[in-house]
Amino acid sequence: MKKVYIAMSADLIHPGHSNIINTATQYGEVTVGVLTDEAIASYKRLPYMNYEQRAVIVQSIKGVHQVVPQKTLDYVANLQDLKPDYVVHGDDWKTGIQRATRQRVIDTLAEWGGELIEPSYTQGISSTMINQALKDVGTTPDNRRKRLGRLLSAKPLIRAMEAHSGLSGLIVEQCQVDKDGSLQEFDAIWLSSLTDSTSKGKPDIECVDLTSRLSTVNDILEVTTKPIIYDGDSGGLPEHFVFMVRSLERLGVSAVIIEDKIGLKQNSLSESSVVQSQDSIENVCYKIKQGKAAQVTDEFMVISRCESLISGAGPEDALKRVTAYIDAGADGIMIHSKATSPDQIHEFCAEFQLLEKKVPLVVVPSTFPQVTEQELENWGVNVVIYANQLLRSAYPAMMKTATSILTHGRAKEADGNCMPIKDILNLVQ
Ligand code: SPV
Ligand code: MG
Repeated sequence: MKKVYIAMSADLIHPGHSNIINTATQYGEVTVGVLTDEAIASYKRLPYMNYEQRAVIVQSIKGVHQVVPQKTLDYVANLQDLKPDYVVHGDDWKTGIQRATRQRVIDTLAEWGGELIEPSYTQGISSTMINQALKDVGTTPDNRRKRLGRLLSAKPLIRAMEAHSGLSGLIVEQCQVDKDGSLQEFDAIWLSSLTDSTSKGKPDIECVDLTSRLSTVNDILEVTTKPIIYDGDSGGLPEHFVFMVRSLERLGVSAVIIEDKIGLKQNSLSESSVVQSQDSIENVCYKIKQGKAAQVTDEFMVISRCESLISGAGPEDALKRVTAYIDAGADGIMIHSKATSPDQIHEFCAEFQLLEKKVPLVVVPSTFPQVTEQELENWGVNVVIYANQLLRSAYPAMMKTATSILTHGRAKEADGNCMPIKDILNLVQ
């Protein structure tokens, strides 16, 4: 019996898949390489179902002899292992981002005289179309909550962008850039206290209460499907923090980050001379433990934010603290700095990697924006948060338009800065 190989994500099975599998069965015994979460996340959005779920479904399809994981977008490793006589793939990959992958399949098969079979692409249905329809339907709190953990397992570095309204949430949800064939997107949404407070015209001092913050979360939940990391400020008193955890968890938020500051909260990046004091290690650990004990699901994450590099206590204090926070049950650590160079963060990351018990590490490069995602990834950072850039770019644009109208006594001169009315009407439907 000849051996046939097919690879697929198989997140959303449609007639195109049946067409490929049916064709493949005519050539021999069919092995399906189901792409792992890691392989899919390397070039596009994480699939709805995890690898195990997708593998079970494919295995039960008539004509499929066996399922194996395909750990990269590239077929070569699996082809070398299985040495199939045929590979079957729809002819749509002759152009576009998969062209190079296709060529490597042809070259590898040539090593043992294998052949590529390319049935014509099934028109009228595709995973991309179904994905769009799914996005329109939305997601559930359970599904959304789990997604952050899945992303952390599937990608070395997760990229989060702040949102402070439904509209900015839509930007984080939808913005995409095709970079050398791989689709770049934001993975998660940061619910910043700074941008939420500022967009309400209030200072970032915990004066916007939880009810109001959750109303912003709700606006964003309604129009997005990506996982949410919530900026919980200090978390309040431990007795209050447990309610914050429960409320966020119930809504489908994946993680809360609480900082180890005490007293009137000031934004960490503030240049005012107000001293930013840190709570005792003991108190912070108690709050973490209370939060962890309050959660109902397994996957909700309490991430502890260390302010030692902001308060002036220094890197040694930071390491001592985060070690204690991890022991107390923190599911992640955020290390913050307001230096204009990333050097201190880099040093911290190097020391952090040596810790016996490690958890995902979060960095917020607001004052050192020159640092690249590749550098952060090399240092072992797991989540990068762009904490305020959407609001910071929106305000000057609005100010410019307002100033122009006052200056000219009419709106014509500002019109070029504005999107056409038909576009804004079509933007949100
Ligand atoms: C926020 O975005 O509100 C943050 C990050 O907490 S920072 O503003 O840098 O403190
Ligand atoms: Mg904040």
